[in-house]
Amino acid sequence: MTCGVEIHFLPGVAGSEAGLECILKRLRLLLPQSAYAPTAESVEKFLIDCQSSLSLDGEQKLFALALTTEGILCGFAQFRFYGSDADLDFILIDENQRGKGYGKFILDASLAQLRQKGVHRIVLEVSTQNTAALALYQSFGFNSLSVRKRYYRNGEDAAIMEKSI
Ligand SMILES: CC(C)(COP(=O)(O)OP(=O)(O)OC[C@H]1O[C@@H](n2cnc3c(N)ncnc32)[C@H](O)[C@@H]1OP(=O)(O)O)[C@@H](O)C(=O)NCCC(=O)NCCS
Repeated sequence: MTCGVEIHFLPGVAGSEAGLECILKRLRLLLPQSAYAPTAESVEKFLIDCQSSLSLDGEQKLFALALTTEGILCGFAQFRFYGSDADLDFILIDENQRGKGYGKFILDASLAQLRQKGVHRIVLEVSTQNTAALALYQSFGFNSLSVRKRYYRNGEDAAIMEKSI
């Protein structure tokens, strides 16, 4: 089994924060602001499990991009990839920093780096009520594959989307 966590800071914005612990600390603050992101606990468990090679099967790897402004984490994107396929786990921008192009920036940078790792297809799942995320993914050319009814605990449907890169 090979397994790895890679967290990259976007070029030019890496500031005073570095390392998993700092990222987790900031993520715990950021995540509760979002109705659509996973809980801080689940992300923390995921990252720690990945580090200790416990929960990932086969050749699955974790890739994450962190975006900082003035040394403070303001965005995070997390993917799992296996060979040429990747799943977008989540993308999150600090509530106070949204609408400034950071979501676009971090997604664009993620896709470029995944492409370099040999990934050719991204799959994601998003609530059909999440207007901002849907618009972001559509603007990147993600196509809707199917809808999973009442997929989320709050009863919302999930759109499954994919994009070849
Ligand atoms: C989805 C999210 C990451 C977008 O980040 P952002 O930095 O605000 O997005 P950007 O400023 O880069 O905008 C990119 C595009 O997204 C769309 N968008 C962003 N905010 C939007 C809004 N409030 N309403 C509609 N479309 C929106 C637009 O298409 C926009 O492109 P445009 O400016 O050319 O029209 C952010 O809203 C977020 O963190 N949401 C909570 C977490 C979440 O829902 N994540 C997705 C599921 S895991």
